[in-house]
Amino acid sequence: MSELKAVILCAGEGTRLRPLTFSRPKHLLPVAGKPLLGRALDTIREADIRQVALVVGHQAEAVQAYVGGGAAWDIEATYILQEQPLGLANAVNCAKEFVGESPFIVFLGDNLLEAGIGDFADDFCQNQAAAALVLREVEDPRRYGVAELSDDGTVERVVEKPEEPKSNLAIVGVYAFESCIFDAIASIQPSARGEYEITDAIQWLVENGHRVSSTILQGFWEDAGEPVALLRANRLYLDRLVSTIEGTVNTASQVSGAVHVGLGSRVNNSRITGPCFIGDNCVLQDATIGPYVSLGDGCQVRNSTIEDAIIQSGSRIENLPGGLKRSVLGEQVVVAGDARNNAPLHLLLGDMAQIRVI
Ligand code: DAU
Repeated sequence: MSELKAVILCAGEGTRLRPLTFSRPKHLLPVAGKPLLGRALDTIREADIRQVALVVGHQAEAVQAYVGGGAAWDIEATYILQEQPLGLANAVNCAKEFVGESPFIVFLGDNLLEAGIGDFADDFCQNQAAAALVLREVEDPRRYGVAELSDDGTVERVVEKPEEPKSNLAIVGVYAFESCIFDAIASIQPSARGEYEITDAIQWLVENGHRVSSTILQGFWEDAGEPVALLRANRLYLDRLVSTIEGTVNTASQVSGAVHVGLGSRVNNSRITGPCFIGDNCVLQDATIGPYVSLGDGCQVRNSTIEDAIIQSGSRIENLPGGLKRSVLGEQVVVAGDARNNAPLHLLLGDMAQIRVI
């Protein structure tokens, strides 16, 4: 078991994912049938880290209800309240007492990585840097923290969301720190957007003679902070889905590709083209589903076509032969057509929305 602790940042209001985040923290939005936070915890547990603090704020109770004591991941979960979303550095500072003098990992709860963080964590424990960053080449770095490196990969400069980036290396939402990061956090001022930026604290380390190392990420990375990114993450995880049919599929139905049909679900006279994740107790009747569809538990789809979508639990889609595409729906949403409308719909709907298409 690793002595390293991890801090997952799950406060923040998820404004770019409204209306979905009015009723649920973004970290509990599902991709391919599992909440973002569940996937972050999987990654942390795979690195053999057991002591995990979750920094919570917006709808903290929902996060606490989902993770509980952490038994599902075999971790010890501790909750720390960030009173206001004052920025990542402020959120990390909330965990000062939890980490004490130990080195620790910070994981942004909306980041999804294909590669594990085990090697990154082990290297950090051995290489004696004050901080380590995970970086990824991106086409448009302006949305991220951006790093400039020396030839040996040491970080020479980091800037948060620069208008004119000097490199295309984005900072991925996984960091390793020694406790000197708390001196750095105490020394910075809020940025132009009014937040205490962890990027500024890292820059303080660099300027004050501390070594900050870096590693380039392999495999996919998604910062699922907005609807298109959530759908992209859904597709990435569905591409790794293994077929499991636990419910019933009648003989008039066709299933191809990787498809999960959960317990108690019934697929009648329908076609599912994988990859698709169908939760438990769903009903598909005369439906054409996929590719890249995730349905939460208890969804009902009748006489409708759905492609590239995340539909959360208890939702009902009926009489939409024209189809629902590139859409994210909350829980218990109803979208009902009149079976004549053939135009595809693209919807982003919060919980309990009811749409009637005429
Ligand atoms: O995803 C990588 C990027 O994440 C980095 O490249 C940037 O350098 C870093 O600043 C961050 O940028 P974002 O604008 O994407 O951060 P966001 O506001 O989405 O917050 C990231 C996570 O931290 C999210 O899970 C919510 C949580 N958070 C955020 C704030 C502002 C907190 O827990 N407390 C906060 O005060």
